[in-house]
Amino acid sequence: MDGFGPSSYGDAFADVYDRWYGDLPGLAETVEAAARLAAGGPVLELACGTGRLCLPLADRTGPVHALDSSQAMLDQLHAKAATGPHHSVVTHLADMAEFSLHDAPPFALIFVAFNSLFNLASAEAQAGCFRAVARHLAPGGRFALECVVPGDPPPGRHDAVELHTLAADRVVLRVSRQDPADQTLAGQHVEITEAGIRLRPWFLRYSTVDQLDSMAAASGLKLESRWTDWSGEAFDADAAGHVSVYRLADRAVR
Ligand SMILES: C[S@@+](CC[C@H](N)C(=O)[O-])C[C@H]1O[C@@H](n2cnc3c(N)ncnc32)[C@H](O)[C@@H]1O
Repeated sequence: MDGFGPSSYGDAFADVYDRWYGDLPGLAETVEAAARLAAGGPVLELACGTGRLCLPLADRTGPVHALDSSQAMLDQLHAKAATGPHHSVVTHLADMAEFSLHDAPPFALIFVAFNSLFNLASAEAQAGCFRAVARHLAPGGRFALECVVPGDPPPGRHDAVELHTLAADRVVLRVSRQDPADQTLAGQHVEITEAGIRLRPWFLRYSTVDQLDSMAAASGLKLESRWTDWSGEAFDADAAGHVSVYRLADRAVR
């Protein structure tokens, strides 16, 4: 999508993110699974957004590192952290496709939730993320990612317009185009009010589980577990999503 960069999504959605997505199900299961996988070691969340996950995780485990490419999203996170005495989150403004955190410890767990890896717009960028993750993990450290399992649409582009919000003072339409050949889904949330139109663009490059496993292997990460979600239910072929946990092999390619 022309003009779409690493901070475009976050900058466009920061003001509405918690209102629209703050109540997603599975928060407690995600926090518990992350705490268990980290086993008391340092944690980094990639694409942390407004802190929906890393703030409660920090309450549960102690300090958590969190990275996002959008300062607007991190500003929302800091505003929420300032309202309570318990949160301790160290934030990093960076692109998860190629980050280097010089002042951070080797991590026991790095995780990326809610399809956020697919915000990286190409297979190359996603592979770059796996490489950066491997460089930042401690020996035996884990990388956990939560993604949708891509469906199998017929060839050709698919355009859609759906109603997202209908209220007395606004309409929000979700306009999207899927291109199965490129494995991309581009869209806009178009908010119409009497004051005017606000565009919120988004772009996803989805990968199959096999493609993710290949990227992981190329970075020295080996699949340890695959669940349908953070509750740990076993993955099967009909699952709509997956949580995959990779572990750094003894001799990682970095
Ligand atoms: C759908 S939100 C998810 C936020 C959070 N993971 C959650 O579950 O609530 C996607 C986040 O990814 C961030 N993001 C997009 N591209 C990124 C990139 N290249 N590097 C780091 N963060 C990125 C956006 O700024 C946004 O905060």
